[in-house]
Amino acid sequence: MRKSPKTPYKLWGGRFEKPPAKSLEAFSQSLSFDYRLAQADIEGTKAYARALERARILTRRETARAVRALAGLSAEITKAGAGAFAGAEEEDIHTFVLGKLRERVGELADKLHTGRSRNEQVALDFRIWLKGTIRATQENLKRLLTALVAKAEKDSSALLPGYTHLRRAQPVLWSHYLLAYLEMFRRDHERLETCFQSADVMPLGSGALAGSGFNVDRRKLANELGFACISRNSLDAVSDRDFALEFLFAATVCFLHLSRLAEDWILYSSEEFGFLELAEEVSTGSSLMPQKKNPDSLELIRGKTGRVLGHLVALATTVKGLPLTYNRDLQEDKEPVFDAAEQLGPALELAAQVVETTTLHPEEMAKAASVGWLCATDLAEFLAEKGVPFHQGHEIVGRLVRESLRAGKQPQDCTLEDLQRYSPVFDRKCLPLLSPETGIARRAVPGGTAPRAVRQALQEARAWLRSL
Ligand code: ARG
Repeated sequence: MRKSPKTPYKLWGGRFEKPPAKSLEAFSQSLSFDYRLAQADIEGTKAYARALERARILTRRETARAVRALAGLSAEITKAGAGAFAGAEEEDIHTFVLGKLRERVGELADKLHTGRSRNEQVALDFRIWLKGTIRATQENLKRLLTALVAKAEKDSSALLPGYTHLRRAQPVLWSHYLLAYLEMFRRDHERLETCFQSADVMPLGSGALAGSGFNVDRRKLANELGFACISRNSLDAVSDRDFALEFLFAATVCFLHLSRLAEDWILYSSEEFGFLELAEEVSTGSSLMPQKKNPDSLELIRGKTGRVLGHLVALATTVKGLPLTYNRDLQEDKEPVFDAAEQLGPALELAAQVVETTTLHPEEMAKAASVGWLCATDLAEFLAEKGVPFHQGHEIVGRLVRESLRAGKQPQDCTLEDLQRYSPVFDRKCLPLLSPETGIARRAVPGGTAPRAVRQALQEARAWLRSL
């Protein structure tokens, strides 16, 4: 099969008189990106060698020799990193690994592909790689989740104007705000867990599409390779990319959450808001304007979100309309997933670093929470508690706000007499509602912003984090 030591290893060719055009070779090679699957490919090939021994294709000695050579190759690649593939001309990682094996064990390498197809092999490698990547991503997420909880505990009494439509709405605790993001990233963590389960299905033994013609013990293979179960249908096994799509969806949603956090903090740290101060180590300067301190870290997190969403759309578009089973189009599955993972990990780490190092201006936040009649809802609810139908109370307080704004009055400038001019139902007890803390304390339902509810939520968050 191999003509000279210089020719790259090739897994097909007998049927052809002519070699493929250089243009096709260059266009179709995947080694430049699927080298990332090297260790997964070696792991899969080692397990497959043992399966071939059990199927009586390889002798015990041959298996031991192949496994040893594969372990040596694995160590060599670990040592050399991406440099191990420099100048290699094999078309993909599967061919590369077998080619390297041939250099070490000669013709024995040609036996290792018995009954095996790259269609199932690439599905296996991709799943092994993705399972590891999901675990690493979850670790990065955990650092961010931990940072959010620590920040919420540290600045637990700070206030923030809560916004709807980016207009001041009701005051909330800063810690309550941070825990909102904790919820989002917690769901991302859980989504990745579900995706892990989808990837945790072992396709080897499916052959090219119809199932292996050799007696390979698929369950034993799954066991050895650390998979929860084996695929149930060979046609599906070689063409299913749901697990990759699920990862891209999970990565996209996680990036959407990161992007919203970034957007909030870019605003909150601006001169206009003045709530937060980003640390210098996560900020950059301007080449022209000496005074600038820009939030590039957050802007890039926001910016990369579009690109990752693009990857999800790209793969969904690739899969759409593909006839069963394997088609070479499926080679396009890897780069979007690699890039999404390679962007998400560092984005999560950077976001954690931003959360850990940002400082608050609690006075500015509290000021913003007490100016702009954020207590109006509390006043209307006070009237409702006293028996005024809510809609009427809403009207009364609406008028109070309208006229106060016209007179340039904020809640803290109002006396009981001022309030009673709008409704005699207002009494002394409503006066504390004019400051934001009182309104916050009223919202003590589970999931609300009252300190008691937030303390409870923080406790639960801590316990969940410990369970990870
Ligand atoms: N590089 C290919 C991929 O990523 C490997 C499978 C090739 N199979 C084939 N029949 N050409 O999909």
